[in-house]
Amino acid sequence: MKAVVDQEMCIGCGLCCETCDAVFHMNDQDKAEAYRETDAENLDEVQSAIDTCPVSAIHWEE
Ligand code: F3S
Repeated sequence: MKAVVDQEMCIGCGLCCETCDAVFHMNDQDKAEAYRETDAENLDEVQSAIDTCPVSAIHWEE
């Protein structure tokens, strides 16, 4: 599974990177991006990042 950060919506608060730095990092535009797929080990953390993003910018890839 892959989480996707909507680059238009992300306000760069960094919360998702703190929640799961195994999947999210900040890019050179100061927006978060998922740099790798989510595996079972990271699933709960990624879901938590999705649930807590203040602008709901993170979604599972369809
Ligand atoms: Fe951006 Fe939301 Fe993460 S605002 S930095 S995608 S918590």
